[in-house]
Amino acid sequence: MQPDGATKIYGIMGKPVSHSLSPVIHNAAFRAQGLNKVYVAFEVTDVVRALDGFRALGVGGVSVTIPHKQAVIAHLDAIDPVAQKIGAVNTLLIEDMHIHGHNTDWIGANQALEMIVDLPAATVLVLGAGGAARAIAFGLQEKGATVILANRTLAKGQALARDLNCECRPLADLKNLKADALVNATSVGMAPNVDATPVPKTVLKNVPAVMDIVYAPSETRLLREARQVGCKTIDGAYMLLYQAVAQFELWTGRKAPVDVMKEALFSRLNSE
Ligand code: ATR
Repeated sequence: MQPDGATKIYGIMGKPVSHSLSPVIHNAAFRAQGLNKVYVAFEVTDVVRALDGFRALGVGGVSVTIPHKQAVIAHLDAIDPVAQKIGAVNTLLIEDMHIHGHNTDWIGANQALEMIVDLPAATVLVLGAGGAARAIAFGLQEKGATVILANRTLAKGQALARDLNCECRPLADLKNLKADALVNATSVGMAPNVDATPVPKTVLKNVPAVMDIVYAPSETRLLREARQVGCKTIDGAYMLLYQAVAQFELWTGRKAPVDVMKEALFSRLNSE
């Protein structure tokens, strides 16, 4: 559908943002459902003015990415309680000049992980203590899972573990730890550092399911070694997919065309 006088605008705000895969995913979904909506990238430096611009122009919804996920919070009209707890917003829903902040990263992570593990009953070892680890760990607790955190810098891990009220281990000492799943929420293994992995292969023998948030390469060294020792694995593209699915559903109130969104994302990733 060509944009016309009634086209509703959606987008992603971040900096940099030109390499984002979100326009590909969301425009495919809008097209598949015949919605008169378009999704574009906004490279934003001034968060306050950008939010006012969205209000003034009647933008319908915006994805928020690095470095603005925390900075937007002070300028919202309302915030979802889980996003508040996480302290990061990756989705704006804008209605009648009113901006409501949400976080769908944790929903995407849970949905992806549920492909390989039964979550409410699970103990999940989360590697990392940055923004991604924080969203994933709070999200897992929201779902009823037990979280154990492990981080290279123990003090930073302990600070997040206090917020979560969970156990924390140094990343270098996970030898005898048993868990139902392991999630890499660090950037270790991301291209171009494809030979790096956050934990030795021996640790993977004690966990039956492994998810990586890294999606380039699609099979990181961590996932390759996990597969070799017999773990179920899921790559980071699924978290990306399902956080977008949750955004689409928030913005449209409709069930998302998941297969179309998956095909759009995976064909773009495979062509890169
Ligand atoms: P994000 O917001 O994307 O999660 P971040 O806040 O910079 O990014 O956090 C990065 C995480 O990856 C941290 O947990 C970091 O560990 P430290 O707290 O010890 O810095 C982890 N990380 C990054 N590079 C790492 C490496 N080479 N080995 C182990 N952990 C690493």
